[in-house]
Amino acid sequence: MSGTTGLALATRGLRKNYGPRRALDGLDLSVPEGVVYGFLGPNGAGKTTTMRVLTGLIHADGGKVELLGKPFKRGDRRRLFEVGALVESPTFYPYLSARANLRELAASGAPVPSKRIEELLDLVGLCDRSNDKVQGFSMGMKQRLGIAGALLSDPKLLLLDEPANGLDPAGIVAMRDTLKALASQGKTVFVSSHLLAEIQVMADVVGIIAAGKLVREGPLKELLSMQGVVKARVRPNLVDAAIETLVPLAPTERLTETDRDEGWLAVHIAADRAEDVSQKLAGAGIYVSGLESGNDLEMLFLELTGGQTIDGEGTFIGLGGPGNGNVTSGKDTAA
Ligand SMILES: Nc1ncnc2c1ncn2[C@@H]1O[C@H](COP(=O)(O)OP(=O)(O)OP(=O)(O)O)[C@@H](O)[C@H]1O
Ligand SMILES: [Mg+2]
Repeated sequence: MSGTTGLALATRGLRKNYGPRRALDGLDLSVPEGVVYGFLGPNGAGKTTTMRVLTGLIHADGGKVELLGKPFKRGDRRRLFEVGALVESPTFYPYLSARANLRELAASGAPVPSKRIEELLDLVGLCDRSNDKVQGFSMGMKQRLGIAGALLSDPKLLLLDEPANGLDPAGIVAMRDTLKALASQGKTVFVSSHLLAEIQVMADVVGIIAAGKLVREGPLKELLSMQGVVKARVRPNLVDAAIETLVPLAPTERLTETDRDEGWLAVHIAADRAEDVSQKLAGAGIYVSGLESGNDLEMLFLELTGGQTIDGEGTFIGLGGPGNGNVTSGKDTAA
């Protein structure tokens, strides 16, 4: 693999089948160092499968993986000391306490000072329960302990599969802050979720997968600016005139009426261009009675992943087949 300098994690053409079911279909990921990378995809897209391959739990059928700048091959599990991971529900000794479980885990890897265990129990908010047996823990508490376990060896690269599962709102906020703080210390955090909202508030870079393939990857800011939308409300009888007036700002396919009866129209341009829209319309004697702007990443996510699944033969079903990689407008495809 070449050209992967500055990447903490890269995959090229990763393939994995479970019997006749294709789970990964030539997955290419490029995860820069020192970022929170949001690995986003709907249920069944292949996130957990990817995580399993990356942590050596299963072998890929094809393709390459590079972890921290070096190829990761079969039998390289020792390399994983540099990588912290939480894939699926963490398993612990139920009859041992939280602290004892972390000690056991520490004993199985590179040496960890006992101070670190106390710091991590504090970090994930389990100090009060550190002497309690894990069998009495709630799902969220086990998840917190799992995150502590993943951080134990102070890894440069952290792989977390749906870490927010089972966490309460306060736990989610705390986890998000922790992950951001780790990235600001130069560590790389690769975190999966099927929820856009979750990724949107913490990721620097986003990779969206569907049916085992990457469908979009890039800095969150870039995706957001591409998915900007400015909505303006004009007199309903002026909607057509308004759309015509706005053509210099955006090509016609980026100009849509959203609610003709109410006079709302949408311009798919960067969200910070609301003033341009209002100015242009005013110049043509059309005055807006409402103006909104924001990002429609939800729409992009649905367009890119909505209804797209793979059947046993590897044929696409649903929206946007394999030859239709660049879907441009939800209105066109979702109809
Ligand atoms: N052990 C397995 N045996 C057979 N098929 C599997 C197995 N694990 C996963 N699959 C299939 O592989 C595909 C990808 O599954 P995977 O668990 O990687 O998805 P995911 O993105 O993690 O989904 P979720 O958001 O639901 O966790 C699915 O079609 C799933 O049914
Ligand atoms: Mg999963």
